[in-house]
Amino acid sequence: MERTVIADIGKMSGKNVLLKGWIYRTRSGKNISFVVLRDYSGTVQCVVKDDVKGFGDAQKALIESSVELKGKVKKDERAPTGYEVQVTDFRVVGFADDFPIKEQQSPELLLDWRHLWIRSQKLNKIFRIRSTILGAIHEYYRSSGFFEIQSPSITTMACEGGSTLFEMKYFGQKAFLTQSWQLHAEALASSLEKIYCIAPSFRSERSRTRHHLAEYWHAEAEVAWIDHEESLKIQEGLISHIVQTCIKRHRKDLEELGADIKMLEKVKTPFRRLPYSEVIDIMKKKGVKMKWGDDVTDLQLRALSEDFDKPYFIVNWPKESKPFYMLENPKDPKTVLNADCIAPGDSGGEIIGGSARETDPKKILAKLKAEGTDPANYGWYLDVRRFGSVPHAGYGMGVERLTQWICNVDHIRDCIAFPRTINRIYP
Ligand code: 4AD
Ligand code: MG
Repeated sequence: MERTVIADIGKMSGKNVLLKGWIYRTRSGKNISFVVLRDYSGTVQCVVKDDVKGFGDAQKALIESSVELKGKVKKDERAPTGYEVQVTDFRVVGFADDFPIKEQQSPELLLDWRHLWIRSQKLNKIFRIRSTILGAIHEYYRSSGFFEIQSPSITTMACEGGSTLFEMKYFGQKAFLTQSWQLHAEALASSLEKIYCIAPSFRSERSRTRHHLAEYWHAEAEVAWIDHEESLKIQEGLISHIVQTCIKRHRKDLEELGADIKMLEKVKTPFRRLPYSEVIDIMKKKGVKMKWGDDVTDLQLRALSEDFDKPYFIVNWPKESKPFYMLENPKDPKTVLNADCIAPGDSGGEIIGGSARETDPKKILAKLKAEGTDPANYGWYLDVRRFGSVPHAGYGMGVERLTQWICNVDHIRDCIAFPRTINRIYP
């Protein structure tokens, strides 16, 4: 007999099925056991009577024991999934010890038992949506002529400043875990022109916010021969495609997670471009402190996002607060041609950071020196500008940040299976 997965049980009404899964809940009387079985796709109640082969095991088996069973599917209005299975054969594949996770556990304990907590309904749903998000990223780029290409995770250069670099020993030499593929991507863009990559990035983040991981998945793109506005169009198209794909494939999961589907349905292009200078004016009106050159904090973003019901870009940030590679804004040289894409709502925040890139090696050199960075480390990066420099732009999107916002998850750590944060590397 072929295995039926629980999500397909409705198609098997009145028929015999073979199910495999884990005991999600169990309750036994003298002559009967009610076992709620879960597999990756859902849960279903299975009724085991005392004349069934394996009844003794069904009475004995604790939650999370793994089970194979055969039985007949019956429509049952009272059952949460609308069906029930009348078991004819029940076999425990692996008996479980007393499960350490009970109801109402503290977040810290759930993190200690993360290797088991990932079986929970909540995380299972988030990870399935995350999988769709990753698939949608590939679909979007591959259907618009991008090449996927990888760059090293071990590097000698800082892309996003020295303060969040993880240092490592590399055969006696100092090296770092990469913060972004960008610098290598800029070199590759002079070969393949339209490129993207989904890979881990590493940040030694001291900030313990609900939006920061030490290791996160970074979906980045770099494109030659485009300006910043063209880059923004690609970005808003990407976000819209991902969100609409998630709604199409996961409406029920999203509802159960408490996502704001009405808001998500509005996520269509174009997104507003809001200059950084206007953010300061808006903050003034709202009575929130902010001056030119300040980063936009979580607090400010929340105040700002009250006025938005879909993602928006904050563009043209002050030059002095931004990295050496960003292109100066020719219309307003105290700013650069960059953007952060901000998702509204409590679970939102900055989901993309990107910019047009400086093409002039002399300007890059001057900025590196001004930052106090030794340009000797950036030799090959400057070479790219010396051999046929072209206008180009790119950006990086945090996969967990995006998942957190779409699924409306309180803390980013629940958007990755085994989170790495300042105080956690186990399990
Ligand atoms: O804004 P960031 O630092 O930009 C870059 O790394 C550029 N070099 C990208 C590029 O132009 N190719 O990071 C990009 C995105 C952020 O918008 C955010 O979504 C995510 O990466 N991110 C993090 N996600 C989780 N935990 C962290 N500590 C993150 N830091 C950044
Ligand atoms: Mg950023």
